[in-house]
Amino acid sequence: MPESTKSATLSFDGQQVDLPIFSPTVGPDVIDIRKLYAQAGVFTYDPGFTSTASCDSTITYIDGDAGILLHRGYPIDQLAEKSHFLEVCYLLLYGELPTATQLEDFEQRVTHHTMIHEQMHNFFRGFRRDAHPMATMVGVVGAMSAFYHDSTDISDPWQREVASIRLLAKMPTIAAMAYKYSIGQPFVYPRNDLDYAANFLHMCFSVPAQTYEVDPILARAMDRIFTLHADHEQNASTSTVRLASSSGANPFACIAAGIACLWGPAHGGANQACLEMLKEIGSVDRIPEYIERAKDKDDPFRLMGFGHRVYKNTDPRAKVLKQSADEVLELMGVEDNELLKVAKELEKIALNDEYFIEKKLFPNVDFYSGIILEAMGFPMSMFTPIFALARTVGWVSQWKEQIADPQMKIGRPRQLYLGALERDYIDVENR
Ligand code: SDX
Repeated sequence: MPESTKSATLSFDGQQVDLPIFSPTVGPDVIDIRKLYAQAGVFTYDPGFTSTASCDSTITYIDGDAGILLHRGYPIDQLAEKSHFLEVCYLLLYGELPTATQLEDFEQRVTHHTMIHEQMHNFFRGFRRDAHPMATMVGVVGAMSAFYHDSTDISDPWQREVASIRLLAKMPTIAAMAYKYSIGQPFVYPRNDLDYAANFLHMCFSVPAQTYEVDPILARAMDRIFTLHADHEQNASTSTVRLASSSGANPFACIAAGIACLWGPAHGGANQACLEMLKEIGSVDRIPEYIERAKDKDDPFRLMGFGHRVYKNTDPRAKVLKQSADEVLELMGVEDNELLKVAKELEKIALNDEYFIEKKLFPNVDFYSGIILEAMGFPMSMFTPIFALARTVGWVSQWKEQIADPQMKIGRPRQLYLGALERDYIDVENR
């Protein structure tokens, strides 16, 4: 932690508390309230953590007003254009871009851990065929702690490293198996001669009955989608992983908790919800009706894929995905995709509407991703599993950072209690 060079003074009820202020490399200062309750007997109140820094981190920086996203200082648009997913994984995990030798070694380690324990196949067969693949992933990833006992001791740096590589390497295999199981097709084993994204497409779309050649342009688009979803500061699912990890839970259990949180439609589930919304709107002429519904306080409808807790300017990932959507749809010969037309028109109308301008609502990462994934051949139920696959490196990187932090304590928030005062029990006959 940096030295504190200034402080904030809190005065209330005749008392005064000086709280140290820490300044970041870039971004807002933080007021350190760790001793507030001990010194003043009060809590702070911030249910959605809108003004709360839960940790210090060196991994990802977001400037929501400027629409900036940096991974270890490198802008996301440069990484999406010039790097590739496993190199970004190395950067997130170890803090620097790898040399050619380091990258080759890392890719070899990941490639040679893509198979899962053969007995884990039985887990998939315990699910109904129509189980959502996210349900399967939560179950199977959590179950990894029942198979990989030699990498669950978080106090051992080597076991932490092994668990990190296993999670990164096996997540595409597990996601692909969840997909294959849901469509009644046989599991497809990973291939060591394919790169990370191509291997995932192979495991999803290859069938024993015929040879499947991965289209390099699709593999590049898949790789870029992984990169754009890799990490995003202290979002809900990452915070879930950190909170689970703070109790000392094993890494597989922590990542399973992150997958569960990501599933929600307000978070990673928005990519599926957004495509469902675009299909419900159906055509450009019905957009005004839905814009009005999104603005109606009495209507729970929200424009899925729009808005963000942090971005009050364009989500830089959405810009790259919008470009990628045009490329993939052209490749797939679906340039006149009605959903893309509705999405682009919806974005144009919303960005010129007073309500969305005033509330600073812009398309987020989930707005265009679903259109691309559907054009690539994925069903909507696979959109969030793909998000989870890509975000695994972010969760693992943040988990590793927290575990190695000597200041780490179990996360245990307090509350504003509004319940009943103490009262005596009443026997049922007297109620
Ligand atoms: C992700 O945190 C991350 O980094 C997440 C993520 C990542 O990479 O990890 O970026 C991934 O989760 C992206 C977000 C995906 N979710 C959606 O697209 C679902 C739709 N969006 C909303 O539910 C909402 O915008 C959130 C959940 C994303 C953000 O909610 P906030 O920050 O709590 O904002 P809010 O709900 O307080 O909204 C502020 C105002 C409200 O109006 P008022 O009460 O002030 O009158 O804006 C309105 C909201 O009603 N509003 C919307 C809206 N989003 C917010 N109105 C219509 N449509 C929307 N989409």
